[in-house]
Amino acid sequence: MAEPYAIDVHLGPADLEAAMREDVLRGLTATPKRLPPKWHYDPHGSALFDEITRLPEYYLTRCERAILGAHAGDIAREAQAGTLIELGSGTSAKTRLLLSAMAAAGTLERFVPFDVDEATLRAAAAAVVAEYPGVAVHAVVGDFERHLHLLPGGGTRMVAFLGSTIGNLDPAVRARFLADLSDTLVGGDRLLLGVDLVKAPERILAAYDDPGGITAAFSRNVLRVLNDRLGADFDPDAFDHVARWDAEHEWVDIRLRSQRAQVARVAALDLEVRFAAGEDVHTEIAAKFRRDRIAGELRGRGLEVERWWTDPGEGFGMALARRI
Ligand code: SAH
Ligand code: AVI
Repeated sequence: MAEPYAIDVHLGPADLEAAMREDVLRGLTATPKRLPPKWHYDPHGSALFDEITRLPEYYLTRCERAILGAHAGDIAREAQAGTLIELGSGTSAKTRLLLSAMAAAGTLERFVPFDVDEATLRAAAAAVVAEYPGVAVHAVVGDFERHLHLLPGGGTRMVAFLGSTIGNLDPAVRARFLADLSDTLVGGDRLLLGVDLVKAPERILAAYDDPGGITAAFSRNVLRVLNDRLGADFDPDAFDHVARWDAEHEWVDIRLRSQRAQVARVAALDLEVRFAAGEDVHTEIAAKFRRDRIAGELRGRGLEVERWWTDPGEGFGMALARRI
């Protein structure tokens, strides 16, 4: 039976493997070694992230949900958008608050979830179809670092980028991403951006190193993904998850640290990767923001922040911006 939603696949299994090969070859032959965070997300990685969002230490999701719970109606009225596009949509759990507010405002016609993890995206698209009859769902499998110009057009759109996923992009990648995003916004289109705010480092770090080891399992998942997709033979349990606060850059720096000297083979690349005992692979940053700084970055890309909300504890911020 045909799916009850439309889907564009800009990153099918072959493209995904090719992109992963390139990143892994470049990242694991570099000094220091690094892997980009987008490859954490296969169905297992997305499920682990979903568990993270329910950890008591992981305040980000609860704070952002509080903002949407209080202000989704204002956002819907302000944006007057027929289409909600969500970048890095995952399970689109909090997005239901926006969809419902846009439906109540009488504007919602179409939902466009966009993600690199096709299986999780399809499950979320099917669930939204069932929950919001009459709303067209047009899913897009893609990499938001490469495929923003392929977003479906038409009508007034609001592009939501929630969860502070923007904080996982290195500064240079973030600058290019914002430039591409700004280029795709036309007319009355809006950007709705959720960002985690700078706060006490202890509170931030606790969110990235839970005692139950869910975050560590999420970190190590990238090695499992390379084993599955590229025929590698990493032993994920031979790496420790390390998260530390980088006060200069105001980001959490996340690494996998090799417990011992070891060698892994990546069959698809015919590559042998040697690790010294204690050597790190950089896997992710989670940058934290200040209102003025993010507003300045957006302005530098032609995007003006019109509205700004935080949760009552000012842990998390949300900007509604438009192109000037
Ligand atoms: N928006 C959700 C999920 C955040 S997890 C929330 O706020 O809870 C980050 C999501 O972004 C994952 O679903 C992951 O698959 C997706 N993602 C990460 N890098 C991506 C990329 N380069 N292109 C598209 N999606 C990406
Ligand atoms: C998806 N992203 C916003 C998460 C974050 O908080 O940076 C990813 C994550 N990494 C470890 N824990 C959560």
